[in-house]
Amino acid sequence: MKIFQNFDLKERNTLGLRAQAKYYAEPESVEELKSLLSDDLYRSTPKMVMGAGSNILFRGDYEGFIIHPSIKDIRITDEDAGYIYLRAGAGVVWDKLVEYAVDRGWGGMENLSSIPGCVGAAPVQNIGAYGAEAKDTIFKVEYLLYEGLVEKTLLGNECRFGYRDSIFKRELKGKGVITYVTFRLSKIPSINAEYEDVKLAMNGVSEPTVFQVREAISSIRAKKLPDPAVVGNAGSFFKNPVVSKSLAMQLKESYPDLKLFPAGEGECKLPAAWLIDKCGFKGSRTGNVGVHANQALVLLAFEGATGEELINLSKTIIKTVKERFNVDIEPEVNIC
Ligand code: EPU
Repeated sequence: MKIFQNFDLKERNTLGLRAQAKYYAEPESVEELKSLLSDDLYRSTPKMVMGAGSNILFRGDYEGFIIHPSIKDIRITDEDAGYIYLRAGAGVVWDKLVEYAVDRGWGGMENLSSIPGCVGAAPVQNIGAYGAEAKDTIFKVEYLLYEGLVEKTLLGNECRFGYRDSIFKRELKGKGVITYVTFRLSKIPSINAEYEDVKLAMNGVSEPTVFQVREAISSIRAKKLPDPAVVGNAGSFFKNPVVSKSLAMQLKESYPDLKLFPAGEGECKLPAAWLIDKCGFKGSRTGNVGVHANQALVLLAFEGATGEELINLSKTIIKTVKERFNVDIEPEVNIC
């Protein structure tokens, strides 16, 4: 396995920001990962795991070691009357795995079609879209701890999944590398087409298949979200804020078009896109950065943009939303 020095990351982050990693490697197996991490130089260097670079903002160069797990095998490990257990390497492209499952008619992942990124990132931020989350199908997660290079496994219900949240963003942050994720997929899919956009797209289809749901969602996403090959972006830049029910109701009274989404007891999730949109940012541009015209939650990095420019725009948006609605929004992308 080659270890690169001063590795150019511009093509490896979907925002397309200029940055270099002091060291960079793409281990293709757990064994390669172990041998890499047992080298003294790398053991003592700050480390970061990066998948497809679709949720990361580089402020500047990374003065450490970036590990891009490139474990790419997909295998059925078990099966019973109702379910298939599918184990995929952290380096498998997420949407290839969804396609693999949907092509075989297995249910559970179809609503997560066309999400950029790799399998290893799915449990970290519990990726979610159109009424589904990765946690709904994650059976177990295998990872390699830096400390002692021990291989560990957590069952799905031990991963403390929440909205864009998990144990890997908290207690286990920076402690190791996810190597494999096993998904439990249904042989008799139950279709979830309740999300408004999906319902509209499915209008007239009486019993949609997982394939039809995948097609519909891929086309909704293609219309709303910009292609990073055309303009740099990292999907949703902010998380949808969870606020008290009383604040949500107060806002709803003043703005009847505000949609409220269920959250925990006594809480509501608000669409950050709506808040940003209402503040007039949608479709705007400042220097080399801007806000997408079809989805206000997506910040754009045009050619020549820097991480600092994006951070400044995000700070202006956060401040304006706070002043206008008294709601705190926070970035979903990882800033480093
Ligand atoms: N809206 C606006 N203005 C806009 C866009 C949306 O007012 O410019 C309002 C609409 O009323 C809409 C509501 O906001 O009903 C929600 O919008 P949308 O359905 O597009 O979803 P979102 O909350 O903005 C979340 C995820 C997306 C995911 C979609 C679909 C987060 C941070 N983002 O966006 O995930 O695709 O739901 O389920 O939760 C991502 O994480 O990168 C991502 C794209």
